[in-house]
Amino acid sequence: MSYLRIFIFLVIFSFFIKVKASNSYETFVNTKKWTEIEELGFWLFADKRLSGNNKISCMNCHQPSRGWSDGREKAIGFKGEILALRTPTIIGLELQEEFGHSFFWDGRVGDLYSQALMPIVNPNEMNQNLDELIIELSDMEMYKNKFHKAFGTEVISLDRIAQAIVAFERTLKSPSRNLKEEAIVKNENVVEFLNSTSNLLPSMNYVNIGHVSDGKKLFNKHCGICHQSSTNLSDGNFHDIGLVTEDIGRAKVFESNKKDFSYRLNQFKHKTPTLWGVAQRAGPYMHNGSKKSLRDVLEHYNNGGSFKTKNDRKKRLNTLSPLIRKLNLTNEELDVLEQFITEEFHMDFEAYPLPDFLQEI
Ligand code: HEC
Ligand code: HEC
Repeated sequence: MSYLRIFIFLVIFSFFIKVKASNSYETFVNTKKWTEIEELGFWLFADKRLSGNNKISCMNCHQPSRGWSDGREKAIGFKGEILALRTPTIIGLELQEEFGHSFFWDGRVGDLYSQALMPIVNPNEMNQNLDELIIELSDMEMYKNKFHKAFGTEVISLDRIAQAIVAFERTLKSPSRNLKEEAIVKNENVVEFLNSTSNLLPSMNYVNIGHVSDGKKLFNKHCGICHQSSTNLSDGNFHDIGLVTEDIGRAKVFESNKKDFSYRLNQFKHKTPTLWGVAQRAGPYMHNGSKKSLRDVLEHYNNGGSFKTKNDRKKRLNTLSPLIRKLNLTNEELDVLEQFITEEFHMDFEAYPLPDFLQEI
């Protein structure tokens, strides 16, 4: 008799939990004001069915509450093995695309649409057969309805999957875009706009329009030329910033001809990552996760790189950025710079709840 009671209690309890969970997704979606295609893109981004063994989704590595990265030194792949590179955040990619930046640490892909299916088929990442994926999704009423709402017919195709994922990615806006739009709306004059949002010319203030904080000055002088705020805090370029690494970075794109200058000159160069939310998303940082904290990063720049010996540095003379040299900043200046980055590029990150049908898998 008492077993029966416990059983009934559990059934009611699990029903309650389910209702609560789905309610929280409904409430969340209402706050997001997603279009049908954006919500479909989120489902796909969060759905483990997109991987060959139904165990890993894009969101396993690009986690919303960790600033769309994973808090790991290097990503963990399909079979649980450690991959070669750290998972970058995916905030503000749409703005970077607009500025003609390319994607991945080595910039091997030129646009988000071409990128979207790559992790799905990559044997190390999600290892999925795309024909099977179409069959699997086409068997589900949830998806058929959603593709219909998003695209006008029930057809599920790779083109539509990629379009939806990109539509979702574009919702992860860069505050750089907001700053820009605000400035246009307010009709601020150009000088004021440049002073407040751009670090294009880091060592000068365009016109003295009042107080510029010490943190901002330090940032503009030493960092802003590469981490440009009007373009998602990145110049979209590739630099060797003096990290100790096995990964040859941008040179991989020119690997087919190792005698080519481009192959040699692009060794150890990686794409400048955005700094939005950098303190809140927490380390490790860099393409190889070699810097545990923001302070470690600052010390790296202050020391003019992370080389152990002068000889190690010499070996990089062809590729090392000329901006990587001893900065001689004091501890107090590093404190000021760290505080500036933490506050100025602040972003809050929240967990994204899942709709019921995605919780079941
Ligand atoms: C196993 C972990 C993992 C999974 C799963 C994963 N990613 Fe990534 N993602 C990474 C890593 C690692 C990189 C960097 C790889 C490189 O540069 O070669 C990356 C890079 C990216 C980039 C480029 C960002 C930039 O600034 O250049 C985008 C966009 C992206 N992923 C989107 C996705 C999407 C969409 C999915 C799902 C279809 C996905 N990722 C699945 C780990 C993952
Ligand atoms: C020469 C261009 C350049 C300059 C100058 C520069 N950076 Fe960077 N920054 C980069 C590149 C490129 C990377 C990625 C390097 C890699 O992983 O190989 C990076 C990475 C970072 C990261 C890690 C972000 C992440 O997601 O892993 C932080 C934080 C950072 N820089 C902050 C700064 C600060 C603070 C300064 C000024 C003291 C600065 N940078 C100056 C180009 C630059």
